[in-house]
Amino acid sequence: MLSERTIEIIKSTVPVLAKQGTEITSHFYKRMLSNHPELLNIFNHTNQQKGRQQTALATTLYAAAERIDQLETILPAVKQIAHKHRSLGVKKEHYPIVGENLLAAMKEVLGDLATDEIISAWEEAYNEIANVFIELEQRMYADAENMEGGWKDFKPFVVVDKVKESSVITSFYLKPKDNAVLPSFLPGQYVTVKVKVDGHQYLLNRQYSLSDAPGKEYFRISVKREAEPDQPKGVVSNYLHDDVQIGDELNISVPAGDFTLDVTQNSPVVFISGGVGVTPIMSMLNTIAKENPSRPVRFVHSAKNEDVHAFRLEVNELMNRLPNGTSFICYTEPSRQESANHTGYMTKDILKQFISENADYFICGPVPFMKAVINYLKELGVASENIHYEFFGPALQIAQP
Ligand code: HEM
Repeated sequence: MLSERTIEIIKSTVPVLAKQGTEITSHFYKRMLSNHPELLNIFNHTNQQKGRQQTALATTLYAAAERIDQLETILPAVKQIAHKHRSLGVKKEHYPIVGENLLAAMKEVLGDLATDEIISAWEEAYNEIANVFIELEQRMYADAENMEGGWKDFKPFVVVDKVKESSVITSFYLKPKDNAVLPSFLPGQYVTVKVKVDGHQYLLNRQYSLSDAPGKEYFRISVKREAEPDQPKGVVSNYLHDDVQIGDELNISVPAGDFTLDVTQNSPVVFISGGVGVTPIMSMLNTIAKENPSRPVRFVHSAKNEDVHAFRLEVNELMNRLPNGTSFICYTEPSRQESANHTGYMTKDILKQFISENADYFICGPVPFMKAVINYLKELGVASENIHYEFFGPALQIAQP
């Protein structure tokens, strides 16, 4: 239990954090990773370079500091992060390393502003916040290991098939090397894939959504080759596309994530995806077709053009199995005469036709797409609790669209 004085100090440092939060955390990361280079086997180096992780951690600490006397209110955000931590193998013993380096970074960046009293208040507050994560993650580790077909941390899977879904997206069908039964998962969840890529000193981790229904003999992930002209080439996605072949092994975590669909509900569901954001939606759609096919379903998808439009045939087949299902496709930059329902970006007018009472909306895609869609839905009167979304990458940057 924190004292009144500690709470007061923490709350009064929130404005400083808001102003310098990212500076402190960037410094903290550099410091921690040079003192503990082994942690580079856990952290995503691309997110580090782009500063994404720093922003996510800073935002969370800021939110936590603001509500240090009612930490239960940040539990939904903590749960989402804890899923990711668990899928990556972040352990209890890592927290003191983060705490120690974070406090040292605060001192180094804030200088005289960081008095001993402030630092010791933050030490106490960090421990409180860390304990919320640790407790939740301990439970998640126990569940992952004890569930039917579950395992600890990572386990080798064999690639049993590799299927091109579009010019940029390829699916990998994965079976456990030990032939054990697969655990069930909730449609929308992802796995962490851990790989060793030639020329890279450390192991690399990426999260990929499972794109098929649970209850099959395999897990399917569908990976976009990240190779935009003005962006750094995706190391792991290009490695998977070019170097990983049928028969090769990949280390996989137990499925994680809380962007999930309750398939037993009968309320209408509207899926809105952009580009590779379709992958968790494919798992949801496949699961509905398997377990609750009469549910009203609207599948709205935006892709650049037909060449990069993944799962076109699979969605058509699924729609044939859903008597109350319809699909709507937008092509933003059609390369030739192509059959889409709309040419151009998603608009509020398009979304208007999919608004129905009690519907739940599941959105996944690039940040600008998601921000636009979430805003349109809100303007169309959809309640926040009916809007569910997931962005690939540190999630909190979209928390205030
Ligand atoms: C991801 C916060 C402790 C390793 C994240 C994210 C947040 C966060 C907000 C982004 C979540 C997302 O992508 O959806 C925190 C806070 C911590 C903490 C507030 C302490 C109270 C730790 C520790 C480790 C760790 C102890 C391990 C040394 C990671 C890694 C990611 C991550 C590897 C994935 C993102 C990436 O690789 O870019 N954390 N974290 N975190 N965290 Fe933590």
